[in-house]
Amino acid sequence: MSIKLNDKTIWVGKVDDRDVPFHRLVLTKGTTYNSYLIRSEKPTIIDTVDITFGKEYIDKLEKEINPAEIRYIVINHTEPDHSGGLRTLAAKAKNAIIVCTQAAVYELKEMYKLHDREFKVVKTGDIPDIGGKTLSFIETPYLHTEETMVTYCVEDKTLFPCDIFSTHVANENYFDDMESNDILEDFRIYYKLIMHPHRMYEREMIEKIKDLEIDVIAPSHGYILREGARDFIQIYDEMSSNIGSSRKTLVLFSSMTGNTKKMTGDSVCFRKFKENEGGPGVCISCREILNQIFRTGKPMA
Ligand SMILES: [Fe+2]
Ligand SMILES: [Fe+2]
Repeated sequence: MSIKLNDKTIWVGKVDDRDVPFHRLVLTKGTTYNSYLIRSEKPTIIDTVDITFGKEYIDKLEKEINPAEIRYIVINHTEPDHSGGLRTLAAKAKNAIIVCTQAAVYELKEMYKLHDREFKVVKTGDIPDIGGKTLSFIETPYLHTEETMVTYCVEDKTLFPCDIFSTHVANENYFDDMESNDILEDFRIYYKLIMHPHRMYEREMIEKIKDLEIDVIAPSHGYILREGARDFIQIYDEMSSNIGSSRKTLVLFSSMTGNTKKMTGDSVCFRKFKENEGGPGVCISCREILNQIFRTGKPMA
């Protein structure tokens, strides 16, 4: 049974109900890798699945379409939980052009040995016609990594935002309005774990999409959001607004010759962090702390 977003667009992803290793975490509720097929006159795939499931992905996709008919493969994000099926897909979809940002081209060519394939580089504002459907691309760097973009289907008012607006839940209900449990907690946990460190880029992203008419948000993980999609954007808007912070930054170092000090307190990274967080930062050597304790009998205030 096809999971339909509309009469032309179907979900062709993978539900991963394992304890999924993810960076330094384990996703105990699993996740999904959402890939989408738009059956336009120039059939288009948006994102693939995790590299673990490349073969299974193609076997399932071939039940929906002859891969030789696929004209475009849009890769919004190069991390292997999104692009991992690309090598297997590209081997079968020999007529497909791979669509991505400039920053993604090198990574995809190297990761999947696609040096001989045709790539189409897109940037914000490019609006190619894929035959009865129009896609619009918006670069969203650092959401989640530097090469990321989101894709918007104009006619369907559907946003494909890869990691943004995702949830890590191995749900078989696919759509938020088919889930009887409240998904908000999982939605917020995902935001806090994956997106909050990038919140200043979230602000830029929200600005870029604010004038789009969005009926459906079809992210790369978890629920497809079609009930009150705007409400989920509003939640991101609120959560990412908390840019100012009362937190302080401590950089503690030990330096024999002073070079480590240059790399810490004077570093661009530390200064940027202070600027962006708007909070005070302290950069101090272990020796200064020990001196203070010996002199006064107290640690520094
Ligand atoms: Fe990612
Ligand atoms: Fe992801």
